[in-house]
Amino acid sequence: MKITNICCIGAGYVGGPTMAIIADKSPHIKVTVVDLNEPRIAAWNDQDVNNIPIYEPGLSDIVARARGRNLFFSTEVDKAIDEAELIFISVNTPTKTYGTGKGMAADLKHIELCARQIAKVAKNNKIIVEKSTLPVRTAEALKSILDNTGNGVQFQILSNPEFLAEGTAVEDLLSPDRVLIGGESTPQGMEAIDSLVEVYSNWVPRERILTTNVWSSELSKLVANAFLAQRVSSINAISELCEKTEANVNEVAKAIGMDSRIGPKFLKASVGFGGSCFQKDILNLVYISKAFGLNEVADYWEQVIIMNDHQKKRFSKNIVQTLYNTVSGKKITFLGWAFKKDTNDTRESAAIYVADDLINEQAKVALYDPKVTHNQVLFDLNYLDTRSSSENEKHIVSFDSPYEACKNAHAIAILTEWDEFKDYDWKKIYDSMLKPAFVFDGRNLLNPERMKEIGFIYQAIGS
Ligand code: NAD
Ligand code: UGA
Repeated sequence: MKITNICCIGAGYVGGPTMAIIADKSPHIKVTVVDLNEPRIAAWNDQDVNNIPIYEPGLSDIVARARGRNLFFSTEVDKAIDEAELIFISVNTPTKTYGTGKGMAADLKHIELCARQIAKVAKNNKIIVEKSTLPVRTAEALKSILDNTGNGVQFQILSNPEFLAEGTAVEDLLSPDRVLIGGESTPQGMEAIDSLVEVYSNWVPRERILTTNVWSSELSKLVANAFLAQRVSSINAISELCEKTEANVNEVAKAIGMDSRIGPKFLKASVGFGGSCFQKDILNLVYISKAFGLNEVADYWEQVIIMNDHQKKRFSKNIVQTLYNTVSGKKITFLGWAFKKDTNDTRESAAIYVADDLINEQAKVALYDPKVTHNQVLFDLNYLDTRSSSENEKHIVSFDSPYEACKNAHAIAILTEWDEFKDYDWKKIYDSMLKPAFVFDGRNLLNPERMKEIGFIYQAIGS
């Protein structure tokens, strides 16, 4: 089937950018992104394209080009479902916070609601594409819902997980390492796969479009994230050993990364990985493994998360210890709150957990992040439920200027690797701080020699 009308349910970090690229690269396809969240859709439709709800370098230009031409954002979910030949489901699949599998399994309630809505509305055959990250064998459940509550129409279910990373979403979507499409090997299944292959072929070379069975595709997504996160936890584990042995983790990473079998990417030691997916997807993998009685497999992957929690904890513990075992009443400035640079996303950011630890020690946290709002910061801390929101408000203040944020601070902690932090006038910052002035660089971002020359007591991860 030649696709001319696409609907995407979920206008988030994946649905928004992915559909913007599809629309931009396929002017002959009408793409409608729908969401129940009205303010989010209103923001996608904002006259001023700089106000779209997701910050990604290059995205606003693409949205400006395609929006109103063949890219639409709407809350009219039923209408978009009805009109589409192919429907991406790109809703959130967070870790369950209740019932069986609480804290481990993926919560599929949004996925199921989408399936039921599609089944209710559809009047002709449709291809349903799992874009969200899902436990292996979810397509089976989707099919059962669609086939049993529908209007007798035929649905083909494909798995097409997304591998974009935030901050580089546009780049990743424009030239992906691969596009993965899983489908059934029946004639109808193959036809559905071909339809989606054709959509991506508008800009992705055919040899980068990989087709597999549904289960391999679903599982590969979880495995890719698990392997990536494992690399970060591996180098972070070594960072602690480096601190004890006078080895330098940057040097070690370079030395091992030059082995072409290991490779240089994703070996940056840090205060710990964050983001909405690594932890969630590994927990999901652990849960699935346990469900099959594969306890050794489950324990193996769980260690990646245990190591990550340890890395965040030891960062805050070190701040307290270095500041003479008390931070009570002390101003500690955070540079960065986002979970990585070039995004306004803060989900599972290490900064949240480090701040929570320091507030427990009665520190006064001052914060500057170029893209994160104070409301978001408070939301993140309140979500942990460690203390009342009024208590959180008393302990954390956001600043519009990094220089103001650092004034009279006892210490600075770098939590996100924003490029602009490197170019600050560090001498000016030093002069405005209480002495001794400490910098805890959770991203190995600054030049240690230069910082020490200025007079800072400078500590980085893994050296
Ligand atoms: P998100 O929370 O930013 O967006 C999901 C959107 O779906 C929300 O706006 C929500 O309102 C909407 N939604 C939920 N239920 C709905 C319904 N029934 N009808 C209409 N809209 C509904 O999430 P995200 O970061 O875009 O992630 C989506 C999926 O993609 C997840 O499964 C995630 O694991 C996966 N993923 C995310 C990334 C990433 O970088 N964020 C990358 C790859 C894969
Ligand atoms: C990650 C994957 O890279 C994407 O392929 C995947 O699609 C996505 O998860 C997802 O499924 O959500 P993302 O979380 O957006 O993308 O960003 P990453 O660049 O992977 O960074 C994740 C975390 O690891 C960040 O906190 C980052 O600072 C940290 N990290 C990454 C390190 O500490 N060191 C590194 O060397 C790399």
